Amino acid sequence: MKKIHSILLTGLFALTLVMCNNVTAKNNENNNSKNNVNMKFEKVALPYETDALEPVIGKQTVELHYGKHHQAYVDNLNKLVVGTKFEDADLETVVKESDGAIFNNAGQIYNHNLYFTSFKKNGGGEPKGALAEAINSQYGSFEKFKEEFNAAGVSVFGSGWVWLAKDASGKLSIEKESNAGNPITKGLTPILGFDVWEHSYYLDYQNRRADHLKALWSIIDWDVVSARY
Ligand SMILES: [Fe+2]
Repeated sequence: MKKIHSILLTGLFALTLVMCNNVTAKNNENNNSKNNVNMKFEKVALPYETDALEPVIGKQTVELHYGKHHQAYVDNLNKLVVGTKFEDADLETVVKESDGAIFNNAGQIYNHNLYFTSFKKNGGGEPKGALAEAINSQYGSFEKFKEEFNAAGVSVFGSGWVWLAKDASGKLSIEKESNAGNPITKGLTPILGFDVWEHSYYLDYQNRRADHLKALWSIIDWDVVSARY
């Protein structure tokens, strides 16, 4: 009887061990699938060194703006789309069709990808080709266009963007957007966007947004920006 009791106890112990292992394996599987976030949305590679835009945009600003803020939008969106209809959508579709937190993060990825690729070391000068002609034709001159664009950027209340955009016929317009806004939600194509969130200039210019916007023209990569027209 004692022997049978001992065999039963050993069997029960072994069964408990197997069950525990199964539960642990299942938990690990669940945790892995929760952590296995779809990392399809990415930020654009920075096409210059972090100090390349000095003194217009300081190294520390680029490191924080590109390295922390932009990265946070990417990380947030990759988590937010899990289990939604946007899980397999491309970024532009997400921006056009989403709202709330998904739109805010997707919009900011789209906006910052355009923004960070609009500059280069020793940039500046003037727009080229068809974009230059369209600006001259609509605004009178590049100087007049810059004045209007800067004034629009200064007058954005709070955080947002000022964009140069074109419609399907090639007509240009200056668009003011709040927060993560982008003219693609109005059916327009963005050509150039200046970020007027304080995170883009506060370390270098404090509250002097107007000075920051004026300085940005000296680092524009007009080859890239003109090709968007
Ligand atoms: Fe920004």
